Amino acid sequence: MKSFGCQMNVYDAARMTDLLAGEGYGETASEEDADLVILNTCHIRERAAEKIYSELGKLAVLKRERAEAGRDFKIVVAGCVAQAEGELVLRRQKAVDVVVGPQSYQHLPRLLRRAAEGARLTDTDFAVEEKFRDLPKPTRAQIAARGVSAFVTVQEGCDKFCSFCVVPYTRGAEVSRDVAQVVTETKRLVDAGVREITLIGQNVNAYRGEDSLGDPWPLERLLEHLSDIDGLERLRYTTSHPVDMTQGLIDAHGALPKLMPFVHLPVQSGSDRVLKAMNRRHSAQDYLDIVARLRAARPDVALSSDFIVGFPGETDADFEETLALIRAVGFASTFSFKYSPRPGTPGAEREDQIADEIMRERLAILQGLVETQRQAFNTATVGRVVNILFEKRGRHDGQIAGKSPYMQPVHVFGPPELVGRVLPAKITAAGSNSLSGEIVQGQEQG
Ligand code: SAH
Ligand code: SF4
Ligand code: F3S
Repeated sequence: MKSFGCQMNVYDAARMTDLLAGEGYGETASEEDADLVILNTCHIRERAAEKIYSELGKLAVLKRERAEAGRDFKIVVAGCVAQAEGELVLRRQKAVDVVVGPQSYQHLPRLLRRAAEGARLTDTDFAVEEKFRDLPKPTRAQIAARGVSAFVTVQEGCDKFCSFCVVPYTRGAEVSRDVAQVVTETKRLVDAGVREITLIGQNVNAYRGEDSLGDPWPLERLLEHLSDIDGLERLRYTTSHPVDMTQGLIDAHGALPKLMPFVHLPVQSGSDRVLKAMNRRHSAQDYLDIVARLRAARPDVALSSDFIVGFPGETDADFEETLALIRAVGFASTFSFKYSPRPGTPGAEREDQIADEIMRERLAILQGLVETQRQAFNTATVGRVVNILFEKRGRHDGQIAGKSPYMQPVHVFGPPELVGRVLPAKITAAGSNSLSGEIVQGQEQG
């Protein structure tokens, strides 16, 4: 199982692995040892999609070698490239046996049985509700093997249609899982040792899952409810859209101690003209207002964001406005990309595409600025005591590693028994990608 792209794909990969465990498959460390390879793909940018075909080229060679040795080898393409390209994948790479979309992978056992008989198949149905109903529940051992932090998908799909983005086409319309399903899945994870849950969705704050009476709950109500689960230490949610960032959700950051003070809130651009062309439905000022209200509700909140440079028509002045927004907010971390025209999206049709060289320059400038902010944020934690959820043994003997509330990797000297506990640590140094600290004795907290 090889997964690319976003957290939704990480979650789906785990579900597919669990599903196939029931069919007698076990996960291998490398494709060399496998009888079946599933590529769980991402279609978000051209490079992500093209990478899949080069991976498939290598797998095709492996498949030929296996065939010569009289051994079977099956190749499945799942995820968003599968959804976007469907049959085309089978035509472009003859070694592929099955193409299965992100809303129909519950059919994998049946598809693989037919593939074993020699069929080549595509299944890209949108069957989200059926998927969640039919997937097997992970066992305690499966959960424990994945560590103390887990994702729970609460919402899938997107109705926003930003003019650069393929997600509404690959994941379909916004669908929320029922409250009861989410609660049951979360409790199951916590019972098996999970301490941190990240609720995920392409537009997670558009969540409107129904309770047993058919009433739709907003995300903050779900978070509040999950907060009461004993043994659950931390809650997060991602990814949010600014237009769904309601005051209720903002207030939850002030009210719920288990809700981590870290919000990933993609803004894409700081120019109103570009935001409009992107069909983002919010202005730069709307974004700054949300940030101000979040900080009022929870003064220690930190933010991360996504940026696209070089959307068609973006001028130097537009780009300057993006830099101004970044300076005004101050981000703890960011993801930034050159615009990539995607088939079927309105942005790709525009004639005012930006030259790659200009995109490259703008990206370098933007990344320089956000890197300064990230390091300043990390350095500012030195000397402070922060709670760390310990997740695993560290790279060096006697060390354990975990995460701060702001997702910063932190390592300390300590015994492996502390994995799964949240303990205060004094941060002693900030490296380029992680912090080091010392556990503060005798004051365990939540
Ligand atoms: N649902 C989220 C993010 C989805 S995709 C949101 O609403 O923001 C993750 C990120 O990929 C986006 O935030 C965007 O910054 C980037 N992205 C999406 N389409 C892109 C494209 N065509 N070119 C470059 N970056 C893109
Ligand atoms: Fe894509 Fe926009 Fe939907 Fe996010 S909100 S998934 S960027 S269309
Ligand atoms: Fe990629 Fe699909 Fe996620 S396109 S970012 S894997 S929703």
